[in-house]
Amino acid sequence: MDHQEILNFAIHLAHRGGAIIRDAFNGQGLSVDAVAKQGNPSDLVTEVDQHVERTVRALIAERYPTHRILGEEDGMADGQTTGWTLANDRHVPTWIVDPIDGTTNFAQRFPFTAISIAVSDAEGNLCVGVVYNPILNELYSARVDGGAWLNQTTRLPFPHGPEAAARAPQSLSECLIGFEHGSDRTQAVLDSRLASHRRLLARSAGDNGEGQVHGAQVRGVRCIGAGSLDMCLVARGAYDMYWEIGSHLWDIAAGTVILREAGGAMLSGCGLYGRPEVNTAKELVTEAAFDPLGRKYLAVRGAADHPALDPGSGKAAMISLARELLTHLEDIEVTRDGVSDA
Ligand code: IPD
Ligand code: CA
Repeated sequence: MDHQEILNFAIHLAHRGGAIIRDAFNGQGLSVDAVAKQGNPSDLVTEVDQHVERTVRALIAERYPTHRILGEEDGMADGQTTGWTLANDRHVPTWIVDPIDGTTNFAQRFPFTAISIAVSDAEGNLCVGVVYNPILNELYSARVDGGAWLNQTTRLPFPHGPEAAARAPQSLSECLIGFEHGSDRTQAVLDSRLASHRRLLARSAGDNGEGQVHGAQVRGVRCIGAGSLDMCLVARGAYDMYWEIGSHLWDIAAGTVILREAGGAMLSGCGLYGRPEVNTAKELVTEAAFDPLGRKYLAVRGAADHPALDPGSGKAAMISLARELLTHLEDIEVTRDGVSDA
């Protein structure tokens, strides 16, 4: 498989889909009016999501008729809704398309919305990713071993290079964290997310008053409402980390390629707060153990290596901080992608 050729076509698709999104956003095309999916007013879809997905699917099917296509709105092109994995018996690549990530933002004309397109090879390895925000005209792209780029000209992370690259923070108190509340507002899930959010912000020492919630006291928490763009903000080095449980493969697949090529890492976002065997569990959080279909995501930026330490020391320091972050976050049960339509 020629990764560069696939990447070029994915960029072409992102521009085609992005133009439709931008026209609607600017009031010159389809409507941004949203309807609730499955009766959930926190999970929206518009005619633009559907039109963009159908347009992109048709273009992929025309160019690569044997490839599989998975889209957020229409599922697997072959109609398989359960029991799928990225590796497949047909030994063909899989395109993973989110026609609009951040549909709520789009419907509100809040300018953080993107089309996200990824490709995995026949063995299930994510190898190409494009995330395009057509409103701000920011296109993030990467293929394995080709680096990660903003608008195809600026190498990520930003600034790039051994001298310029940011060091790992000394502690969580120096970290800016991307955090999303997602669309599941059932009480137990909401309580859990809010408790995790609070623990990230709560003072790490001293008297926190009644209840004594001691936390990570991170520098700040941001919720921008589009997981694919959260991933790109980690890749460019604006966020130190981004955590979410409950989003899907199509939200993070393209961002995963972009982040890894920018020197960062994807880890399981399984919360470790309150786990009795927490120190053992922390050690199991590795890049190799990451499951893209697991719906528990912790994205971690890269960092410059410490001059006195081995190559890879910057990334190792970031992963160590990420494991620490997980001890402040609660786990939430979710069903893996491919197992159900959830
Ligand atoms: C959603 C956004 C949101 C995240 C949700 C996603 P959608 O995607 O990425 O930020 O919190 O988990 O489902 O529905 O706008 O494509
Ligand atoms: Ca979407």
